[in-house]
Amino acid sequence: MKNIYSNIFSFNKKTLGKSIANLKKGNVIGLPTETVYGLGGNAYSKMAVQKIYNLKKRPKNNPLIVHYLNYKDADKDVIFNRDFYKLYKKFCPGPITFVLKKKDKSKIQSSVTAKLNTVAIRFPSHRTTRSVLKKLNFPLAMPSANLSSGISPVNALDVSDEFKKKIKIIINSGNSKIGIESTVVSLVGKPKILRPGIIAAKTIKKFLKITIIKKSSKISSPGMLKKHYSPGIPVLLNQKKADKNCALITFGKKYKNKTNCFNLSKKSDLKEAASNLYKTFRKIKKQGFKKIYVVKIPHSGAGIAINDRLKRAAN
Ligand code: TXA
Ligand code: MG
Repeated sequence: MKNIYSNIFSFNKKTLGKSIANLKKGNVIGLPTETVYGLGGNAYSKMAVQKIYNLKKRPKNNPLIVHYLNYKDADKDVIFNRDFYKLYKKFCPGPITFVLKKKDKSKIQSSVTAKLNTVAIRFPSHRTTRSVLKKLNFPLAMPSANLSSGISPVNALDVSDEFKKKIKIIINSGNSKIGIESTVVSLVGKPKILRPGIIAAKTIKKFLKITIIKKSSKISSPGMLKKHYSPGIPVLLNQKKADKNCALITFGKKYKNKTNCFNLSKKSDLKEAASNLYKTFRKIKKQGFKKIYVVKIPHSGAGIAINDRLKRAAN
């Protein structure tokens, strides 16, 4: 029988070799990270970056995150500052992205940064993607591997659902542990959180004075589009129950196990809930529900990141 997922490969030496060869040729591939799966390509190659924007149907004014193995590799592209070193030491490699000033002599394509003079950089902790980065002499521009404004993929099958056979390689490393995108922190001028994530503001505040940007400002983050993370069906927030034929996303043990109920975390663990959010959206959509009702999710810790995504999904 023909394998319909012939572009999904488990990670081994052969897959690593193929992935490196493809990336060096300027192709893009699907890669796992601890947050969500990414669509990676050479950040120094105009052709590779173009492919990323085209595949995702991403607006050109929404810049991409550039991924490195460690800060030494990023040194040639960005200007570090004290705030960066503080957070790097504490959280990297891991689910946090830093916006910094780009160096004039950097080889990062201007299309990666949407012509801004800043670059968003990240050091993923996922072993697979680190093995790939180790073998490259260029960083990876890597947005989440989904069509623009949709929800991020958390496993190889999700990526395949988004792009079908349009990409040749998707490396399968199971489900992304965290399940939502990295925290994006701007360290240009006063430190600001542009996108909340699993590393919460409260945690960062232990090391650095930082503010959360509530409204998306045009200059600081052109990509923080209001409508984003959309599952493609209406989402209603702060609900107590769902209408007939609609799905209800719940949280905590007080909800009954009905067939239209999808519990993000029975034990009321917000990190677990975050890791189940996109998976649940996809499951509900696949089962053919026409609308999603969501109960109120506590607004603290990872709940802030969850509510950010829910609000955009409902927009
Ligand atoms: O967890 C993640 O960050 C995943 C994995 C694959 O690493 N990537 C990801 O990329 O979520 P993407 O492209 O879906 O989201 C990148 C976000 C966008 O909101 C974009 O606007 C913002 O980062 N961004 C990128 N460069 C920026 C810059 N120079 N200034 C401000 N925001 C920037
Ligand atoms: Mg994305």
